[in-house]
Amino acid sequence: MNIEEMKKIAAKEALKFIEDDMVIGLGTGSTTAYFIRLLGDMIKKGEVSDIVGVPTSYQSRLLAIESGIPVATLDQVDAIDVAVDGADEVDPNLNLIKGRGAALTMEKIIESRAGMFIVLVDERKLVDYLCQKMPVPIEVIPQAWRAIVEELSIFNAEAKLRMGVNKDGPVITDNGNFIIDAKFPRIDDPLDMEIELNTIPGVVENGIFADIADIVIVGTKEGVKTLER
Ligand code: A5P
Repeated sequence: MNIEEMKKIAAKEALKFIEDDMVIGLGTGSTTAYFIRLLGDMIKKGEVSDIVGVPTSYQSRLLAIESGIPVATLDQVDAIDVAVDGADEVDPNLNLIKGRGAALTMEKIIESRAGMFIVLVDERKLVDYLCQKMPVPIEVIPQAWRAIVEELSIFNAEAKLRMGVNKDGPVITDNGNFIIDAKFPRIDDPLDMEIELNTIPGVVENGIFADIADIVIVGTKEGVKTLER
């Protein structure tokens, strides 16, 4: 089984949690994209009804509309029943790093409010500790980026401003901010680090998602595996 097939079987497994009348937080990225398309197919076939999707980014909003999923913004719904999203790293306690797609702030706002947060990954994303392979993306107010990069050196982080691809200059988030990618030596206490990073003036949000995932569905070469907290 290749990586794309592993993502797809994880996405398919998540459909088992979907019921009529649900408000669903729609994550961002290539794995969640499979889920959004499959959810759209379910709606078209009449297998589920009265679904509302609350997208976490322009990417997921456009894809949800294209897939025939009715969408709303967070302030138009009373509650989020379930949220489904990918991750960049998952540690043994199901703490996450997210934000490779620069959508971490809306992802955290929506997913922290969900009755159930389901994470979809392929087996490459499982790590022994956070920051083993991937940096922590940090969304920052543009003017503050340099001061924040300097401040991050206190944590021995290698931090750099994320630059655009097919765009000159830095990546601009859906909220009009910059992203700093900070590679820490390792993160032993994700909750503590998540809180600490958010106290730096100019930081909007960071990509550590500690104690928030309820279920992680992992696509592996052998099939799908579900991890629960
Ligand atoms: C988006 O900002 C990210 O948090 C993604 O959810 C995460 O990077 C996973 O993306 P893939 O499913 O494309 O690996």
